[in-house]
Amino acid sequence: MGFDLGEVLIRRKTIQERVRELAFDIGSAYGDMDLVLIGVLKGAVVFLSDLIRELPVSITTELDFLAVTSYGPSTESSGVVRIIKDLDININGRNVIIVEDIVDTGLTLSYLVSILREREPEMLEICSLLDKPSRRKTEIDIAFKGFEIPDEFVVGYGLDYSGRWRNLPEIHTLKKRD
Ligand code: IMP
Ligand code: MG
Repeated sequence: MGFDLGEVLIRRKTIQERVRELAFDIGSAYGDMDLVLIGVLKGAVVFLSDLIRELPVSITTELDFLAVTSYGPSTESSGVVRIIKDLDININGRNVIIVEDIVDTGLTLSYLVSILREREPEMLEICSLLDKPSRRKTEIDIAFKGFEIPDEFVVGYGLDYSGRWRNLPEIHTLKKRD
């Protein structure tokens, strides 16, 4: 079944304001610490690139990326998560924040967190732009959360459906094609 682009769920200005607040919260929590921000490819790239530019200059940040796959062409999680690109840097003893686009079932992040914890970072927190709490299958503590959204598949601002619509500046729902 195909999907067309639906209406705007979160406007550009609303996203910008919330990203600024999240950066402020991270700045308040970690002051002048040395952070490692880990972007989960590919969905978190747009969010991460806006977020880092709002962080206070006192925070030193190193960036790294992970790629996982948990979704086929459908909008349902397969529950299977695989790392397809691992980190370049060693996070042992570092202060790490994982930056995600969305927490849906939570399976992807709980898997990532368990893998990264084995590397013994000093601190490991999660920052996710979106949260769909009604879909959760495993408990996840999201220290920095942008927006809670209803159980709808969304695209735009980095999020895709089958590789499409990542480039949209606003977050949209999808609608079934008739
Ligand atoms: P989870 O493992 O079910 O929490 O799924 C996490 C990943 O699925 C996210 O990082 C997204 O890449 C993808 N995903 C979940 N819901 C959506 C959505 O509504 N739009 C786009 N991608 C989504
Ligand atoms: Mg993702």
